Amino acid sequence: MSGIPHFMQTYAPAMTSILQPALLPTYAPFPFTLASGAGDRVFTTDGEAYWDFYGGHCVASTGHSHPAVVAALAAQAAELIFYSTAGELRVRNEAAEALVAFAQGSGTASVFFCNSGAEANENALLLAAKLTGRTSFAAFQGGWHGRTLLARSVSDDPKLHAGLKERLAPTAWLPFGDEAILQSVDFTGTAAVIVEPIQSMSGIRTAPASFFRALREKCTASGTLLIFDEVQTGVGRLGKPFAAEFYGVRPDFITSAKGLASGVPIGALLMTADIAAQVKAGDLGSTFGGGPLAAAALLATLQVIQDEGLMARATACAARLREGLQGSVVSKVRGEGLLLGLEAGAEAAALKRHLEHRHILVGASTDPAVLRLMPPLNLSDAALDALLTATHAFRKGH
Ligand SMILES: Cc1ncc(COP(=O)(O)O)c(C=O)c1O
Repeated sequence: MSGIPHFMQTYAPAMTSILQPALLPTYAPFPFTLASGAGDRVFTTDGEAYWDFYGGHCVASTGHSHPAVVAALAAQAAELIFYSTAGELRVRNEAAEALVAFAQGSGTASVFFCNSGAEANENALLLAAKLTGRTSFAAFQGGWHGRTLLARSVSDDPKLHAGLKERLAPTAWLPFGDEAILQSVDFTGTAAVIVEPIQSMSGIRTAPASFFRALREKCTASGTLLIFDEVQTGVGRLGKPFAAEFYGVRPDFITSAKGLASGVPIGALLMTADIAAQVKAGDLGSTFGGGPLAAAALLATLQVIQDEGLMARATACAARLREGLQGSVVSKVRGEGLLLGLEAGAEAAALKRHLEHRHILVGASTDPAVLRLMPPLNLSDAALDALLTATHAFRKGH
């Protein structure tokens, strides 16, 4: 009971007799309890080590507990844990400057900090409606953007729409990657189009750069704002700072979260100078957004990504995985950089169990034939070897 606060030790026997768990069981967790993590591995309370190709759901960008991130957090915590946006903070300003500089190839110029991907998307959609005076949106089949009201309105997930039909924002649904249909759509009454440059949840679905360029042109022609949801594709994961740069497209907004501060909760809404000039004080707000700890972790994360060449590492790891998985149960590798989908047909679920048995964590997706890899960008050769060996062993019937 050493980790349990003293006041709870008195009450613990009574608490454990309650049938309903204290933590609401809204997820299906791994069959073990995690105790710690280091780099691309996590360790269970039983002392077992797992290679983490799941990355805590695409979050552990610099690996678990990177010493530079830990040091930055410790130093910041000793100095100031929190102060609201009512007080100007050097660390928050520096985080904004560093992120805007990191994203410069995407054409954005200013950032608003919040706490999660959903909140970043919610604010992007809200601002788009406000600035255009339009209240409908367009989104793509297979896209997923979060659980707040506007974000869930534009997410292609029936679970998120249940019970809310009349409350959801009007949204036109387009097939992802279909340029011909895109050209036939009328966007003149549409406030914004939101798109994941690579659709993650629905199984790492990609579209060619020409599709995103056509989307940009279409939006510009109709005064519709373009939102790139880069909650998974950003922060160096594709081998470039953001997918916007990777595909050579300049959206009006980029939303980011997950790996941006190596696991410290943060969301970021990047926008062009043109949009930023139209945002007035009071239009956006958040108590915790860009708090000192998150800002310090963001600064350390971007520094590590650049100092350790992690974007190049992501590209190199992807090449190694693509080549190494040939001849295995994986018939095709989808995606870019370290956001990859392994097509394994009817064997996907069995492959996931097999890998877990061999102490390798991977993600599932809503496509039952596709497993997802979204590991730390500083993935080691040992982790790559372990995944390749285990996947080939599956084919041999192990
Ligand atoms: C593409 C994408 N957008 C938005 C979100 C929502 O982010 P959050 O869970 O931080 O609200 C997610 C979460 O998985 C996501 O994958």
